[in-house]
Amino acid sequence: MSDPSTAASAGRTPNPVPAPLLDVGGLSTELRTRKGVVHALDNVGFVVRRGEAIAIVGESGCGKSMTARSIMRVLPRSTDRVASGHVRFAGRDLLSLSESGMRKVRGADIAMIFQDPMSYLDPLMRVGDQIAEVIRAHGKASGEGLEKAVEDALASARISDIRRVAGSYPHQLSGGLRQRALIAMALACEPELLIADEPTTALDVTTQKQILQLLRHLVEERQMGLVLITHDLGVVANVCDRVYVMYAGQVIEHAGVHDFFERPQHPYSRGLLASLKSLCEGDAHLSSIPGVVPNLLAPPAGCRFRARCGFSMDVCAKQDPTVRLDHGKDRDAGCWLFKDGSGHV
Ligand SMILES: Nc1ncnc2c1ncn2[C@@H]1O[C@H](COP(=O)(O)OP(=O)(O)O)[C@@H](O)[C@H]1O
Ligand SMILES: [Mg+2]
Repeated sequence: MSDPSTAASAGRTPNPVPAPLLDVGGLSTELRTRKGVVHALDNVGFVVRRGEAIAIVGESGCGKSMTARSIMRVLPRSTDRVASGHVRFAGRDLLSLSESGMRKVRGADIAMIFQDPMSYLDPLMRVGDQIAEVIRAHGKASGEGLEKAVEDALASARISDIRRVAGSYPHQLSGGLRQRALIAMALACEPELLIADEPTTALDVTTQKQILQLLRHLVEERQMGLVLITHDLGVVANVCDRVYVMYAGQVIEHAGVHDFFERPQHPYSRGLLASLKSLCEGDAHLSSIPGVVPNLLAPPAGCRFRARCGFSMDVCAKQDPTVRLDHGKDRDAGCWLFKDGSGHV
């Protein structure tokens, strides 16, 4: 007879590890351009748990926005495609959903906010009406409940002057308030996951700090998952739990935020951190990493960072080190220097 004291015999799984809220793996995305196929993403993978903020960082053009757009299935052209991989959200594979199924997910389960709120707010509609429309469209409230839901959404974005903001057109608001209005719209349907693509790049430093604090607060208060996309490592430390570094369409390192800032492994990550101080706002020029990002029309074989790397070895030209990146580990780097796990260069 089995031991009745064990969880397994009682029909329960012992100490189940909760499945991640978002589980992305092997994601490869191809963009059809006049010059040919841009291999924008190659084998991208990461996980986000509930109540956790991850950062996706890297230079301009490394595939951060394409990662977000591939997850949301909003690629620039109808001919662009996710060629392979999986995007599991709360156990469902988003890549196999119908377009109407995906429309229900967007905004309601997963919301996105962007760098430039003016591109996503309707200039001809009052902010309150725009938020009401989102709430109504997802059937979250209607009739008399709608006004309250709009006010709640604005309050959750820490907007104090709710009536004035709700009654304003976007151009009547400051940049910071517009970004808060966009966050309010994103939060209106209480999404489980928020993807924020460079949400504070256009804002002054004080407003940037407030918005980032707000995002962190929402992660804790709502146990929401957050994907914060940024080219600016300076914004990551106070907001995120873990960091994924992208380079030329690939994830090349991931680590807990403390480990990452204390002991970055990949030579590219080290260069990024070394040049952190030299990063100007909105300008990802890296003074300490000479060279340019490879052309993604024809990505080089082997390690994509090889041509810019001071530690390049023979193996780096032959085999792509990112294929062995292990997302199950606390941290890992897609670099042949670490293939023995020594962590020493
Ligand atoms: N609309 C587009 N058409 C063709 N290529 C694009 C388009 N948008 C981005 N790309 C290419 O896809 C790659 C990834 O871009 P993106 O994800 O926008 O970078 P990031 O957000 O990290 O700055 C880059 O090589 C870029 O040139
Ligand atoms: Mg981008």
